[in-house]
Amino acid sequence: MGSRLEPIQPTDDSIHRAALALKAGELVVLPTETVYGLAADASQAQAVQAIYSLKGRPAGHPLIVHVANTGLAQRWSVFDDRAHALADAFWPGPLTLILPRQPDAPAWACGGQSSIGLRCPSHPVAQAVLQAFARIDALGGVAAPSANRFGRVSPTRAQHVIDDLGEQTPLLLDGGPCEVGVESTIVDLTGTQARLLRPGRIRREAIEAVLGEPLGGQDADAPRASGTLASHYCPVTPVRVVDEDRLDAALVELAEANGVSGVSALGRSGREGGNSGVYSRQRPMNPDVLWLAAPSDADGWEQALYDAMRHLDRQGLARIVIAAPREGPQWDAVMDRVSRAAVRGQ
Ligand code: TXA
Ligand code: MG
Repeated sequence: MGSRLEPIQPTDDSIHRAALALKAGELVVLPTETVYGLAADASQAQAVQAIYSLKGRPAGHPLIVHVANTGLAQRWSVFDDRAHALADAFWPGPLTLILPRQPDAPAWACGGQSSIGLRCPSHPVAQAVLQAFARIDALGGVAAPSANRFGRVSPTRAQHVIDDLGEQTPLLLDGGPCEVGVESTIVDLTGTQARLLRPGRIRREAIEAVLGEPLGGQDADAPRASGTLASHYCPVTPVRVVDEDRLDAALVELAEANGVSGVSALGRSGREGGNSGVYSRQRPMNPDVLWLAAPSDADGWEQALYDAMRHLDRQGLARIVIAAPREGPQWDAVMDRVSRAAVRGQ
């Protein structure tokens, strides 16, 4: 298979080709509303294995199976009333449900576990490919983790995928910048209490309102989720997370801590700061930092965050400083992703 370093525009023809490629056991990169996904037919062991090899993802980290509708999801998993209520409320959309696997459904995607993650994405290109695939495949399930190398920031643009996978990029459908920009909310429905495994655009409150009861959090015997590993969403450059209202003070402290690190640490005015990138809503006082303006609201932060991290990561900086707002539960997904990105940097 030759390299394809150009994304392909979605047309009836290219969508049909993507469905045929999946059926043939090949990998395809699909745009979804959350992030780009590295997709394979979930019922073919070798195709699923190819995802793990290309990503460099450790074996045993289960993948989410994507389907075009709730009917197909039930070929893979057992729905209870809670699952029906959440699927009715939020599908198609950025919500993944962890459910008991149908005993006779293929288990490659979920690492042989008795539970399986299902998601019905709303992106029109993902939907079109899933529907075309379901017309030629009885189960219509497509396993798709984010289309990045393991441990790196998820791709929210076609170019990010090419930046990560290079010559190994499979057929890549260009769906433009992802609207949501962070991975789906994951709710585990395998126990008596529903639990939130990963915060995302579908907020905890909205899920609790549909379920009519509070969501539990993660606990020690939660199923393995690579999104829950400490340092999962990491740029190469160390990341620091600081309180928004302490940004300038934190930059001074960082300068003092690193001020003797030589000429390369000096900015244009000769002061420390020229090797720091800052992502914040407010312009920092230090004129020497490389400042990237962040959006004002939580949805905007989510949409722009990974692109901003990738952009700052390319600048050869000593550190990236992120001033994350903590203004209530709608910021949970942002706080979750920036604190994971910072694990190596703190
Ligand atoms: O938004 C998304 O969910 C994106 C797009 C491509 O749809 N996909 C995505 O996949 O984020 P991935 O593989 O990067 O994250 C899937 C998460 C992992 O943390 C995985 O371990 C968890 O879902 N997961 C999948 N099946 C599970 C299961 N049976 N039990 C517990 N966690 C599971
Ligand atoms: Mg991922």
